[in-house]
Amino acid sequence: MHSVSSPDSRSPETLCIGPLGIAKPWVQAALSGYSDLAMRRVARAHGAAYALNEVVIDEKVLQRGKGRQRILFVPDDDHPVGGQLMGSTPERFAQAANDLVEAGYDVVDINFGCPVGKVLGRCRGGYLLGQPALAIDIVLRVVEAVRGRVPVTLKMRRGLSEDPQSEGAFFEILDGAFDAGISAVTVHGRTVDQKYEGLSSRGFLKRVKTHAGSRTVLGSGDLFSAEDVHSMLRDTGVDGVTIARGAIGNPFIFEQCDRIASGLRPVAPTLAMQARAISRHLEEALRIARDEASALGKTRRHAIQYARLHPEPIRCRDAWVMARSRQDFERVFGELYSDA
Ligand SMILES: Cc1cc2nc3c(=O)[nH]c(=O)nc-3n(C[C@H](O)[C@H](O)[C@H](O)COP(=O)(O)O)c2cc1C
Repeated sequence: MHSVSSPDSRSPETLCIGPLGIAKPWVQAALSGYSDLAMRRVARAHGAAYALNEVVIDEKVLQRGKGRQRILFVPDDDHPVGGQLMGSTPERFAQAANDLVEAGYDVVDINFGCPVGKVLGRCRGGYLLGQPALAIDIVLRVVEAVRGRVPVTLKMRRGLSEDPQSEGAFFEILDGAFDAGISAVTVHGRTVDQKYEGLSSRGFLKRVKTHAGSRTVLGSGDLFSAEDVHSMLRDTGVDGVTIARGAIGNPFIFEQCDRIASGLRPVAPTLAMQARAISRHLEEALRIARDEASALGKTRRHAIQYARLHPEPIRCRDAWVMARSRQDFERVFGELYSDA
């Protein structure tokens, strides 16, 4: 074990989301198409102390059926977990928030950040950053519906676009949301217009934290390594961070953050560690998916991302892309993940 005295090191300390104390400030972000129960279980096994479900549309929570059942399934080992909602009307948002609380989610997170065209077109996600009055009304109604049973949090991008009007709307919503009673905000330092172009602004995160004072702010954006995580915490003063793309195919990032916090050098995962994480993901997916093909398909998306850690990333990625059956998975493990 190597000891390092990096200026980036920061000891883990409790991240407070209202009354909820989370042991470490680096948490698993909400990731549509990824952060389902299987991903959250693997992230927790590697040290994530809090994880958010992928965003769900309020109507999907409220409509009877398999989708609703899947969303409202919160097993005992999946805590603390945040349930994230997207919608366009205060009433439906509030009803869905109540259902998430009754199902056992520990936090209700409101999404005002999604930049996908179809979502904006339906007046959801990032669209609401341009509608401060409606956005604040949604927050008020959700807080009211939740009635203090769990904390309510908010996820925002730093505005619709780069102009001062967008920034004004951002701070109007932020202040209105804290006044309404949210316990924390997560800010992704890109605008909605930016989508994923350019860098996420750490300067903006620093300004938000200064503005928020003692209220909890989590940062998001461009966290691809444990060093990025520690440097964002140090540079911006935010209370915590949500790890998003950097955790897809790389749950090891959570334990690497822990090691840096303990003054140790982060270790790269061996092939055996990578294989174990992918196998664990597959096992979890098989336990929860509606059928084997769906579990394999979902796991493949993650395995393709794990290939970035492999010494032969392109060969490995191509092998996962072609893997369709359990036998194919076993063959990839045998051919590409034997440590010998
Ligand atoms: C595939 C994908 C799905 C995402 N899904 C969600 C989501 O469901 N809810 C959310 O708040 N943010 C979502 N995000 C945004 C991330 O949580 C995060 O804020 C953003 O990716 C910036 O962090 P990063 O640059 O470290 O990836 C998603 C991002 C990606 C790439």
